[in-house]
Amino acid sequence: SKKKIGVLVGSLRKESFSRKLARALMALAPAAWEPEEIEIGQLPLYNQDFDDEGTPPAAWTAFRQHMQNFDAVLFVTPEYNRSVPAVLKNALDVGSRPYGQSIWDGKPGAVISVSPGALSGFGANHHLRQSLVFLNVPTMQQPEAYIGNAAELFDDSGALTNENTRQFLKKIMETFANWVEKNSI
Ligand code: FNR
Repeated sequence: SKKKIGVLVGSLRKESFSRKLARALMALAPAAWEPEEIEIGQLPLYNQDFDDEGTPPAAWTAFRQHMQNFDAVLFVTPEYNRSVPAVLKNALDVGSRPYGQSIWDGKPGAVISVSPGALSGFGANHHLRQSLVFLNVPTMQQPEAYIGNAAELFDDSGALTNENTRQFLKKIMETFANWVEKNSI
């Protein structure tokens, strides 16, 4: 059966460049892979009381259960104020609890940051990696992917305009597939 990659996007914006990039990456995944976008905007902010009292919001429970289906996780995110957007950090936090039942533990991952500017989301990329170290997500080291000037990468339909970018994104997905094969528990 095909391996499943859960794709988490750190933006809720309709015209999000990160989402367009995520979709371009998904389309370039090797044939043996089945990427699927995971919704995170519906998750209430993490509050430990709900877990301690045994009353987790239904959206948390559905997300935690759904994530069990995936062999790997791909994070595609913009940078907010030099760090990870709250919506994505919240999804990490919700998935990491109750203590000892983290959905992330041992799932191989990759991080791609996106910005319409030239700095390319380095701060978000590496802050996210900091959490992934603790969450025990074996995270692909190379190729690194800091995607800048994102507005120029897509046409109006969201298709990539540049063959070099397409080749680079394809290479990322192929390398990630190998990474997951080698690092799956
Ligand atoms: C931003 N933006 C931004 N860009 C960046 O490169 N570094 C940053 O630190 C920030 N900080 C930041 C904070 C907040 C609150 C917002 C709303 C935006 C700009 C950001 O990259 C731009 O809005 C992107 O288009 C967001 O990504 P999506 O939604 O296109 O995926």
